[in-house]
Amino acid sequence: MRLALFGATGRAGGAVLRHAEASGYRVHALARSAGRLDGASPSVAVAVGDVRDLAAAERVVEGADAVISAIGGTGPVNPAVLEHGTACIIAAMNRHGLRRLIVVQGFHLPFPGDRRNVGRPAMAALLRAWNRHLSADTYRMADVLAGSELDWTLIRMPRLKPGPPGDNYRVGRLALGPWSTVTTGQVAHFTLSCLEAGDFVCDAPMIADGGHAGRKETALAEGGVTHGNPAHGTPHQ
Ligand SMILES: NC(=O)c1ccc[n+]([C@@H]2O[C@H](COP(=O)([O-])OP(=O)(O)OC[C@H]3O[C@@H](n4cnc5c(N)ncnc54)[C@H](OP(=O)(O)O)[C@@H]3O)[C@@H](O)[C@H]2O)c1
Repeated sequence: MRLALFGATGRAGGAVLRHAEASGYRVHALARSAGRLDGASPSVAVAVGDVRDLAAAERVVEGADAVISAIGGTGPVNPAVLEHGTACIIAAMNRHGLRRLIVVQGFHLPFPGDRRNVGRPAMAALLRAWNRHLSADTYRMADVLAGSELDWTLIRMPRLKPGPPGDNYRVGRLALGPWSTVTTGQVAHFTLSCLEAGDFVCDAPMIADGGHAGRKETALAEGGVTHGNPAHGTPHQ
């Protein structure tokens, strides 16, 4: 399978890149500067550009079977990376007839069927206080994603720690908070598992460490969220 990857020089995206390389994928990655992915294997092709440039996004998705985005870094000097970058990725995918897009983002984003807990709004408030540009951009990105006609999945994660790929994580409608963590390797493992299984289409699963991937702490039944049904709701309530 050939994967188009955005955010490959970042924490989550870098882990996805390494796991994809080790799993035999061919990867076409976007990097903002030449040389940032020089250590990658021959199975990785690198295009240089900005994700908000449609032509650059098209160069990366052309010929791919699926797309993963772990972009971030929104700020005054790098505005609307998530909203405009995701819009460009979607437009590029539409032009090239691709359907499968997985986006990695924070669990502060609400989604229909979420459990009520103090942790998610607390995290949302902390993120807003830390970087209001990034915070606002994440909600706008979620709206752009949900408004697409693609087979999208929004993976919602807590604070990242370094760690190797493995399946000892929990997935579903979790009661997470600022105290929650997940490793980069766990996110990479879940991202590629989602892709390979075709799971969580038009859904926004949370992931956190502890437990086992097979044990889905899910409210899919409780929350009325249906896999594979593009009409079930938007991430941004
Ligand atoms: N880290 C966490 O604990 C955590 C927790 C929850 C959610 N999140 C969110 O999840 C996403 C992934 O997190 P992360 O920690 O892996 O992010 P990260 O390490 O900051 O990586 C962000 C990636 O986006 C790329 N990027 C930034 N601006 C770009 C642009 N204009 N064009 C193309 N690429 C661009 C960066 O490239 P460069 O290397 O060139 O900058 C990098 O590859 C982010 O949106 C983050 O806000 C992070």
